[in-house]
Amino acid sequence: MKMNLILTGPMGSGKSTVGRVIAAELGWELLDTDLLIEETTGLSIPTLFREKGERYFRRVEQEIIQGLSEKTKAVIATGGGAVLDEGNRRVLLGIGLVIYLKTTPVVLGKRIGRGDGRPLLTGKDPVVAVTELLKARELYYQQADAVVTTDGRTPAQIAEAVIMLARRQGIIKED
Ligand code: S3P
Repeated sequence: MKMNLILTGPMGSGKSTVGRVIAAELGWELLDTDLLIEETTGLSIPTLFREKGERYFRRVEQEIIQGLSEKTKAVIATGGGAVLDEGNRRVLLGIGLVIYLKTTPVVLGKRIGRGDGRPLLTGKDPVVAVTELLKARELYYQQADAVVTTDGRTPAQIAEAVIMLARRQGIIKED
């Protein structure tokens, strides 16, 4: 039985923030794949991109996601590009309820600000960059089990919507 909650979506969609709220609410473990990558490599995401390149980053990301297959009762906040890989999508869909935090580019741009710490945005207008990313990735994000929109909602409201969905799907047992 699928017993994890997996959050997908682009940078700025709120995966880590909302994930933290859900994990606290349920008393589940919070796993953030970007943080696991930083722990494993001992490098920050920007340094990893700069020194080893995106291909290397994606390989580590794959390994980390493969390593999640035994997890249960975890809220997993994925990196925005994790869904690009078919193997990643298969693992994530196999271990829990995958929820796409759908957000419009303008709102993403506001939340991202200058894009510090996000190598794919360096030197670009965040709204233009996320619009392009979404165009290329929407198809993969849509392969989630469910979609929750985040525009105009607080992290607590988004977390509540995700939890309600998960209860309906039987991922969270009623106490
Ligand atoms: C990426 C998103 C980032 C991080 C890396 C690449 C992407 O994660 O994994 O910079 O390809 O969209 P967040 O979505 O948590 O910012």
